[in-house]
Amino acid sequence: MTDALKTWTPRAITALKGKEKIAALTVYDYATARLLDAAELHLLLVGDSVGTTLLGYANTLPVTLEHIIHHTSAVVRGVKRALVVADMPFMTYQVSVEQALVNCGRVLQETGCPAVKIEGGEFRAPTIRALTQNGIPVLAHIGLTPQSVHVLGHRVQGRDEAAANQLLRDAAAVAEAGAFAVVVETVPAHLGAMLTEKTAIPVIGIGAGPGCDGQVLVINDILGMSGDFKPKFVKQYAQIGEQITQAARAYKQEVSSGAYPAPEHTY
Ligand code: KIV
Repeated sequence: MTDALKTWTPRAITALKGKEKIAALTVYDYATARLLDAAELHLLLVGDSVGTTLLGYANTLPVTLEHIIHHTSAVVRGVKRALVVADMPFMTYQVSVEQALVNCGRVLQETGCPAVKIEGGEFRAPTIRALTQNGIPVLAHIGLTPQSVHVLGHRVQGRDEAAANQLLRDAAAVAEAGAFAVVVETVPAHLGAMLTEKTAIPVIGIGAGPGCDGQVLVINDILGMSGDFKPKFVKQYAQIGEQITQAARAYKQEVSSGAYPAPEHTY
């Protein structure tokens, strides 16, 4: 943390490896960002999961740079302590290193957030190196990368030896290229632990078991706001979805009966 501002920086997140577990959540709006920042999380990710959680798409592919800029700007306005990371949408950084520099640079300039996340391992290392060398901190993302859903499906990654070895090379390559941490998604717990042990930067797991340097989850999932969608790795810490429906039903009932507005709600 920087002492003056008490704000988590990419460098401070890297320094947590082996010292303190990193707690991260996704967030997409100002109001929720303020609530989550009050919980003193280390990192808040404006995930492209905004596409499925808030915008109703079937996967993250339709999310645009404009969506991410819009949502990240709102989150940045609500956060004082956590490191805010903007998730770069599908095809905004894959085409070329130049495209990645232009689009990631635009996200930093227009939102005020200090870091980006991009998907991809060993093959993405040249992009990660160019971004970090040009002043853009990168959170890498390997394993089950949702932007490759049509290639990878929803399967657990790294199950056989060759795939596990590739993930070990991916993690080493993104660390060597300058990523400040790496998200590892949906791998067996023993592989999550091995990646954590062998990688120089923090490994932040999602469905990667308890052996990681930290965990990240989707806010709507932990609040019980994702309907019937519930991957095995998700733990629900509240049932806000049910509460919202109950509150709306109670409101409707009181409007119908005339119980609302009562004298104390009336000018
Ligand atoms: O978009 C997202 O929510 C993610 C996960 C790592 C949580 O990428």
